Amino acid sequence: MLSMEEMAWFQAFLIIFVLFSACFAEERALYLVMMEGDSVAFPSNTSPSHEDGRTLDPHNVSKSHAKRLVESHNQLLQSTLETGSYSKLYSFKHIVNGFAVHTTPSQVLSVSLHAYIICEKMEQKINTNHGNCNMVLQAEKLKCAPGVNLVERDRGARLMTTYTPKFLGLRKGVWTQEGGDRNAGEGIVIGFVDTGINPTHPSFAYHPHLNPFTSKLSRFSGACETGPRFPLSSCNGKIISARFFSAGAQAIATLNSSVDFLSPFDAVGHGSHVASTAAGNAGVPVVVNGFFYGLASGMAPRAQIAIYKAIYPTVGTLTDVVSAIDQAIADGVDILTLSIGPDEPPEDSPTFLNIFDIAMLFARRAGVFVVQAAGNQGPGPSSVVSYSPWAVGAAASSTDRNFPGSLILGNGQKVGGVGLSGPSFGGGLFLYKLVLATDAVKRNGTFPRTPPYIEECQYPEALDPNVVKHSIVICIFSAGFLNGSSTLTAIIDTAETLGFMGFVLVANPNYGDFIAEPLPFDISGILIPTVASAQVISNYYEQKTYRDGKGLVTRFTARAAIEEGRIACFKDQVPTVSRFSSRGPDFIDVKRNPADVLKPDILAPGHQVWAAWSPISALEPILMGYNFGLLSGTSMATPHVAGIAALLKQYNPSWTPSMIASAMATTASKYDNDGDLIKAEGSSIGSLYPSTPFDFGSGLLSPKRALHPGLVFSSEYEDYVGFLCSLPDIDPAMIRNATGEWCNYSLGHPANLNVPSITISSLIGSQLVQRTVKNVESKAETYLCSVLPPNGTVVNLYPPWFTIAPQETQDLYIQFNVTEAIGEFSFGEIILTGSLNHVVRIPLSILPVSVF
Ligand SMILES: *[C@@H]1O[C@H](CO)[C@@H](O)[C@H](O)[C@H]1NC(C)=O
Ligand SMILES: *[C@@H]1O[C@H](CO)[C@@H](O)[C@H](O)[C@H]1NC(C)=O
Ligand SMILES: *[C@@H]1O[C@H](CO)[C@@H](O)[C@H](O)[C@H]1NC(C)=O
Ligand SMILES: *[C@@H]1O[C@H](CO)[C@@H](O)[C@H](O)[C@H]1NC(C)=O
Ligand SMILES: *[C@@H]1O[C@H](CO)[C@@H](O)[C@H](O)[C@H]1NC(C)=O
Ligand SMILES: *[C@@H]1O[C@H](CO)[C@@H](O)[C@H](O)[C@H]1NC(C)=O
Ligand SMILES: *[C@@H]1O[C@H](CO)[C@@H](O)[C@H](O)[C@H]1NC(C)=O
Ligand SMILES: *[C@@H]1O[C@H](CO)[C@@H](O)[C@H](O)[C@H]1NC(C)=O
Repeated sequence: MLSMEEMAWFQAFLIIFVLFSACFAEERALYLVMMEGDSVAFPSNTSPSHEDGRTLDPHNVSKSHAKRLVESHNQLLQSTLETGSYSKLYSFKHIVNGFAVHTTPSQVLSVSLHAYIICEKMEQKINTNHGNCNMVLQAEKLKCAPGVNLVERDRGARLMTTYTPKFLGLRKGVWTQEGGDRNAGEGIVIGFVDTGINPTHPSFAYHPHLNPFTSKLSRFSGACETGPRFPLSSCNGKIISARFFSAGAQAIATLNSSVDFLSPFDAVGHGSHVASTAAGNAGVPVVVNGFFYGLASGMAPRAQIAIYKAIYPTVGTLTDVVSAIDQAIADGVDILTLSIGPDEPPEDSPTFLNIFDIAMLFARRAGVFVVQAAGNQGPGPSSVVSYSPWAVGAAASSTDRNFPGSLILGNGQKVGGVGLSGPSFGGGLFLYKLVLATDAVKRNGTFPRTPPYIEECQYPEALDPNVVKHSIVICIFSAGFLNGSSTLTAIIDTAETLGFMGFVLVANPNYGDFIAEPLPFDISGILIPTVASAQVISNYYEQKTYRDGKGLVTRFTARAAIEEGRIACFKDQVPTVSRFSSRGPDFIDVKRNPADVLKPDILAPGHQVWAAWSPISALEPILMGYNFGLLSGTSMATPHVAGIAALLKQYNPSWTPSMIASAMATTASKYDNDGDLIKAEGSSIGSLYPSTPFDFGSGLLSPKRALHPGLVFSSEYEDYVGFLCSLPDIDPAMIRNATGEWCNYSLGHPANLNVPSITISSLIGSQLVQRTVKNVESKAETYLCSVLPPNGTVVNLYPPWFTIAPQETQDLYIQFNVTEAIGEFSFGEIILTGSLNHVVRIPLSILPVSVF
């Protein structure tokens, strides 16, 4: 037992130790800082200079203004932090006034001492304030400095693909030619903040006759930054501009020069995949392992590509991402594609007011359409990482293509599975010896007896070559796959080393079914992801395999063959919302209190999408050497939305970003190709439930209809600020600090933001909501208004009908009254049906809390 004094001493020691280590650990970090004062793009008293809402002329930015901002950042740092204790990584000046700083203690000893002293003071604070130690030296000093509005720790940025690591992860060839003909997207520049681009890929080749380097793009002003694997000729006209941002990555990690190229070159594949999905050339043959999978085309094949590389194989920082966004908007991109982002909500600011979302707000303010991945943390509720109404959040769906494979057993049974591989030799007609890996273990070998060595076929040295050669070997999905340490690549290596005829990776009854995505194997192989099918194989195998008293095999007589698995099939019930796709409701803070905003916004193909790849494939060894990859994720859905946005912008050059977003949303489809409500995948494999707007937003993108939406709901920057100022319990100082705006204007209720959906997360008694529509067609039209009320509510819509002339607007008033407290969200819709056949649909998501 410790005495009281010892106890007190011990506790004091603990507190100091904890504070000390926390402060010390926090000391080396990246911070993003927002400053008071106008950025270059938005000097006071300016209004949009173009009909489509653009504010920025990239050829006429005020150089003196930019210089002034940079100097003010430097001065502030000099007067606030000790020389040598920091390095400034970037000044943001185009759309955001702020900077990124890496705090680097100059000398460990003095800093430790320093930390110790300050932390002692903080201990008092802790005792009195119940605060904590994330108020850290440098960051605290910055927060208190004059002119500093917001200091946020860099949470890091990630790629929004699923199952990225090792085992799974691939996507499927959507490549429907929705992008229309080869002119689609001409004159539009799509910006990509991602892992860079593989400039020699045929999807990005420059075809002078198809793609004359157009001088129409006078409002775009990019640059071609060169470096390893990225010579000047990489900016070939299709790739109109390419830059890279690495200060954040270099500050917090030791980059590996064999993968983290300091140039716009993409060593991962992700950036090339995303760019080619949005804007890859039309008709590029997809050939993998000598097999032709079809022709690939971007959604807007003639759009031009501006690359902003900000994510590296080793690390991705928000610092580099925000700097990239700031530059992309200054360059004059029309559309900004973010298949990346922070993977979790901000810790201490409201979701809408973190620096990433604020950068998107200013991009939108500059007239740029912003689309971001909704996230891959589905299917649980409130898993979205896209929060704000000024960016479109893309959810992912499967498409109607899949690649079924099958295993033929010696008794004639056929077991279905997944695998992008050719058949075993003989085209599936010749049968081969079937061997369970655990029955082929070297009896006296010296190796660890763990699942990876034995049943998971990860190490060739565990298996007896004489038993497995020319055989089809059954490997079992086991502990190593479950914890991510085993890989399909290792099975393929084992198979190649030992000369398997093929491999079968089966589900393990102890772990249940697993998720199998088609991967291009260069040897014959198949994944059997369901326990039920694995059982069929196991029953047959045990029946035909003879064992001695100790269970050792004396004779293998089971036989099998693998059939062709690379031929696409087209399923019935499509699309479905992919399991991984993040779900609403949107939320306002880290406690996940729901927000009055619908997220995700829209559904687009994001499951098993074929697109360009980078053969270096630094994060996916299994795709190394390939020029195309089949990937899944909301990362893949995002560029579909970007490409379609380019087509809409090309068709309707005067449309603002919110008009484009509205056209997509009100014309989206809720129905699958059976005519039923689109289903969403649930958490257990194979489970499907009818989708709600929290799964698919407004529904599946329908590009053709989006060209002629009839009516649009539009919002501008002031409306977004008004929305922020209407949030319940929000401190206006917070909004002022994040946006620089006073809350002089409020919408009364955040649900009054003029978006093409209505979400009320807490309906008590009744709520009147307003919308304004504009006729964007060339003829007057009469609309009938109808409502499908959410359960527990009555909804009155005024006026019941209206006639609207071209370019005119019409206000709509929607009164929601609770009839029954339900205590959970229920859903409905408003449908405006036009006399010229335009149908405008807006989803309602209401939580009726109480009747009064
Ligand atoms: C550049 O911007 C300034 C200030 O916004 C404006 O007065 C000037 O006319 C612009 N110049 C051109 C060439 O557009
Ligand atoms: C750098 O990357 C290469 C290629 O992936 C790898 O072989 C090497 O081990 C890495 N080096 C370090 C220091 O991580
Ligand atoms: C394997 O080990 C056992 C006992 O340790 C021994 O009896 C047997 O002969 C060994 N077999 C081979 C093939 O080495
Ligand atoms: C994963 O599981 C395997 C098999 O149990 C084990 O050998 C390995 O150490 C585990 N790896 C990790 C990272 O937990
Ligand atoms: C806003 O910024 C000011 C000046 O830095 C600061 O004093 C204040 O605490 C901030 N307010 C909020 C709500 O963050
Ligand atoms: C908004 O309010 C602030 C402070 O109350 C004031 O300085 C500013 O001029 C107002 N802005 C407008 C556009 O009314
Ligand atoms: C809904 O509530 C409002 C305000 O309490 C009331 O004026 C209106 O009559 C109600 N409408 C219906 C249909 O109950
Ligand atoms: C409304 O409630 C009924 C009965 O409880 C239920 O069957 C139906 O699915 C609900 N509809 C919606 C849109 O929530």
